[in-house]
Amino acid sequence: MSAVALVVAAGRGERLGSPGPKAFVMCGGRPMLEWSIDALKAVPEIGHIVVALPAGVQAPAGTSGVVGGQERSHSVRAALHHTLAGDPVLVHDAARPLVTPEIIRACLAGLDAEADAAIASARVTDTVKEQADAAGPPTVARTLDRDRLWAIQTPQVFRREVLERALAQPHDVLAAATDDASIVEAMGGTVRLVESPRDNLKITTPDDLRLAESLLKAR
Ligand code: C5P
Repeated sequence: MSAVALVVAAGRGERLGSPGPKAFVMCGGRPMLEWSIDALKAVPEIGHIVVALPAGVQAPAGTSGVVGGQERSHSVRAALHHTLAGDPVLVHDAARPLVTPEIIRACLAGLDAEADAAIASARVTDTVKEQADAAGPPTVARTLDRDRLWAIQTPQVFRREVLERALAQPHDVLAAATDDASIVEAMGGTVRLVESPRDNLKITTPDDLRLAESLLKAR
């Protein structure tokens, strides 16, 4: 059975300061979403692409569109429920236009027989400290062991049945999840880390957009 890809593109993108939805902001001469769609279409293992979109927006050619939800996980769930088949299921944020067919294929290949999910991630190069839980100015509680830290990206690949169970969690659990793998982890699932370039960045601010445009231009 071939894999299905769910692309979430229904976010508002307020931190980018754009009037319209973030996935449709121009990036390197085309709407940001189109870069991810092209990368997914170049992967033969992917048989179908479903895109969660803001209401009233048309899906890109060769994909199926669904209206997204209130929070990111709700958009993933809406897209998943649109597909009756396809296993494994790959979830990708349209806000990561620098994804490549190589990253996508590495994540698909990373889902070994014992794994429930395999997720793109980059090793952390900064020293990361955790803030203490006290009132007053931010104060360090401790320094984390950098050798074991990874910055998590998308794509994230899941066994279909595992993602279905994860997205059946209550509304507040889904609303609090910043990625889908964290729900699987909380259920005791095995999530593999697939090393991916740091370039596969997420566009949040106007600075991120400028950096992505220069990286796309240099390709
Ligand atoms: O806001 P953030 O950058 O974390 O969103 C990550 C991805 O999730 C984006 O591609 C955005 O379009 C998508 N999203 C969505 N539905 C929402 C919120 C975010 O599809 N309700």
